[in-house]
Amino acid sequence: MELSRPELFDFHGVSMTHYFTDNWDNVQNFKARPDDILIATYPKAGTTWVSYILDLLHFGQTCPERQSSIPISDRVPFLEFFMQGYPSGPEALDALPTSPRLIKTHLPVQFVPKSFWEQNCKIVYVARNSKDNVVSFFHFDRMNKVQPKPGDWDSFLKRFMEGKMVFGSWYDHVCGWWEKKQTYSNLHYMFFEDLVEDTGRELARLCSFLGLSTPANEREKIRADVQFDVMKENKMTNCSTDPVLDFNISPFMRKGKVGDWKNHFTVAQNEQFDEDYKRKMKNTTLCFRTEL
Ligand code: A3P
Repeated sequence: MELSRPELFDFHGVSMTHYFTDNWDNVQNFKARPDDILIATYPKAGTTWVSYILDLLHFGQTCPERQSSIPISDRVPFLEFFMQGYPSGPEALDALPTSPRLIKTHLPVQFVPKSFWEQNCKIVYVARNSKDNVVSFFHFDRMNKVQPKPGDWDSFLKRFMEGKMVFGSWYDHVCGWWEKKQTYSNLHYMFFEDLVEDTGRELARLCSFLGLSTPANEREKIRADVQFDVMKENKMTNCSTDPVLDFNISPFMRKGKVGDWKNHFTVAQNEQFDEDYKRKMKNTTLCFRTEL
């Protein structure tokens, strides 16, 4: 199949590409079920990591064969992604034999289909500090053949600051979801940095939010299975079966670190970024750690 790098365009005030808007009406009319669990993130914030954790928590014991034979992207379908020749997100979700359904989305909060709110679905939002997030996004856009061309690092960073990325502005995304958390109690807002710092603690918090009584020894096994090096070697979680990714350019499981931005930002870029960040984030109580 011919894969083409798309152009970004403005879609109701958010930069998008056609891969995420072509199936818009079906996505907006998606019928969520009360036990559906939505995993929402800005791209490159740890979506795959948390998807795998949730999958193991729900199905690690009951469906062990699923772990060795079905890529995580099929176990946790991507709601809004649409590409000819592949089932759409809603089709893949309706065909899932198991429940609860785990659903991945990168939609900013205002674009989430209304049935998720009506059904009071549990939602896990994962946020990552902007500097590591933009670095990870840059390498991802280099290797992903259905993302816009990244250009060089300096221009990519400028576009990130302008919100001209697929799924729009990081600043609006993390703040929009943070605001939602103040009024929607079924939303667990978590941070990539906390997961790196203490995966076991975050697993326990997730269990409590999801109402799971996973025993400590099972949680410990999951903690070990979701470590970066283990996931990187696991063909079902390292995205190596994904046809749109070019692993000759970069691995998907690249570094998994907090603070890798220091290897990319120049001093001048860092100063400009910090100044702009202060302005954009001045009205939120949301705080990120850029190093541990
Ligand atoms: P890096 O590019 O910084 O390495 P997403 O799944 O949202 O696309 O996010 C991908 C990022 O999460 C990548 O970041 C990837 O390495 C990191 N990641 C995935 N699994 C991880 C794990 N088990 N531990 C630490 N980082 C992980």
